[in-house]
Amino acid sequence: MVINDQNKFQAIISHAKEYGFVFQSSEIYDGLSAVYDYGPWGSELKKNIREAWWNAMTRMHDNIVGIDAAIFMHPTTWKASGHVDNFSDPMIDNKDSKKRYRVDHLLEAAADEWIKAGKEKEVEQLLSEMEALLASNDFAGLKQLIEQNNIKCSVSGTNNWTDVRQFNLMFSTQLGSVSDEASEIYLRPETAQGIFVNFLNVQKTARMKIPFGIAQVGKAFRNEIVARQFIFRMREFEQMEMQFFVRPGTQQEWYAYWKEERMKWHASFGIPASSYRFHDHVKLAHYADAAVDIEFAFPIGWKEVEGIHSRTDFDLKSHQQFSGKKLQYFDTEINQHYIPYVIETSIGLDRMFLLTLCHAYQEEKWNKEDGSEDSRVVLKIPAKVAPIKLAVLPLLKKEGLPEIAKEIMAACRNEFYCFYEEKDTIGKRYRRMDALGTPFCITIDHQTKEDQTVTIRYRDTMQQERIPIAGLAQFIKQKMN
Ligand code: GAP
Repeated sequence: MVINDQNKFQAIISHAKEYGFVFQSSEIYDGLSAVYDYGPWGSELKKNIREAWWNAMTRMHDNIVGIDAAIFMHPTTWKASGHVDNFSDPMIDNKDSKKRYRVDHLLEAAADEWIKAGKEKEVEQLLSEMEALLASNDFAGLKQLIEQNNIKCSVSGTNNWTDVRQFNLMFSTQLGSVSDEASEIYLRPETAQGIFVNFLNVQKTARMKIPFGIAQVGKAFRNEIVARQFIFRMREFEQMEMQFFVRPGTQQEWYAYWKEERMKWHASFGIPASSYRFHDHVKLAHYADAAVDIEFAFPIGWKEVEGIHSRTDFDLKSHQQFSGKKLQYFDTEINQHYIPYVIETSIGLDRMFLLTLCHAYQEEKWNKEDGSEDSRVVLKIPAKVAPIKLAVLPLLKKEGLPEIAKEIMAACRNEFYCFYEEKDTIGKRYRRMDALGTPFCITIDHQTKEDQTVTIRYRDTMQQERIPIAGLAQFIKQKMN
């Protein structure tokens, strides 16, 4: 994958819209910034990725169970978690355009431009200075860095900046009919807290013994100030998080385990290891004693897709203190009560969706036998998460072929997502299925009536072969695995 390929990124965004994967939210009202809707094939792909994660966590680990906690939580939750006081980002406003930027995003955007201009060395220097200043909360230094490097606002084109200030990213709303401070609640900015407050409920009812994990998938909300890069950074998004509770003192070992385990999950999508890298955090969040990002080579650069955090006993201890309820575990093996330590794996479902699209999207060109050029846009989505697994295509709309096709649909649709299509030439139908990422197409033709075979066409190689209708669903399932 070419890094910093804005043209490819724009092509992926257009493709996602044209083929029903992702739409701008409320588009008829000119959209809502950093909020997106998933269309027919996008929602199917998203569901499949969610399921792949959920199954990998809960079905493949005897010691992980799932929950589905509410988005609204008692407001004290967010005091205890530190989000009320600490969940903020340093921001800077341009005095001329009044546009507000997250400081790190402003500098990263400038770095992207410098890379295009071949100034790799300067970029390294800029980003390492930025990281050091962020780590020491040196806001005056950050402002100086922006001014010294003559970084300008994309709207006004000036470098007339305010001081750097902190802004909280949580959305709040009112519970009930009386609007006062006491009824103010937050839309959760992470799903993790729903797991922490349920720690003992789950441990007791599911009879879990440490080490064990609780997994959850759900919506999270952040009032991201800089809204760009499509579904990479949204204000409403979905997280897939797992908190793994361990005996204090063993957290380093489990941190290493989950780093490896999560990379194996990413590898199961058939994406080469060279497209991923680890990035250790320099500036640790208020709850962590170690943290690493799994980064992916997006066409917009190396970007975080998942975080693995060693959260110590910060959250449970803090909830114990704020609620006055004991959140301890009795470890029968060592005969001790303690508050467990936690390793968290946290991945954005929308980001994994974007990663899948970016890896899958390919524009191919080749010469046909007669020397003319042919081309296609194909989504080489891993078969296990592809929205449509099998397209069933009668060659003609007549002569009994649709009837056979519909019988095949009836036999297969219970097993996996099938799509029936009889309009247009077979070539056009294949191209459409390539664009939707459908790994297998079968065509029903006149020979089918004679020998009960169909032509199967493979998306990635475009090769075709004849196979019997009998056992078709089983055949596809084997190929998918
Ligand atoms: N509970 C820990 C936590 O929330 P995070 O690094 O802030 O950690 C975890 O978020 C993951 O959630 C990120 O790696 C990213 O994939 C996803 N994520 C965070 N903010 C996002 C946003 N505004 N839009 C889309 N995904 C986001």
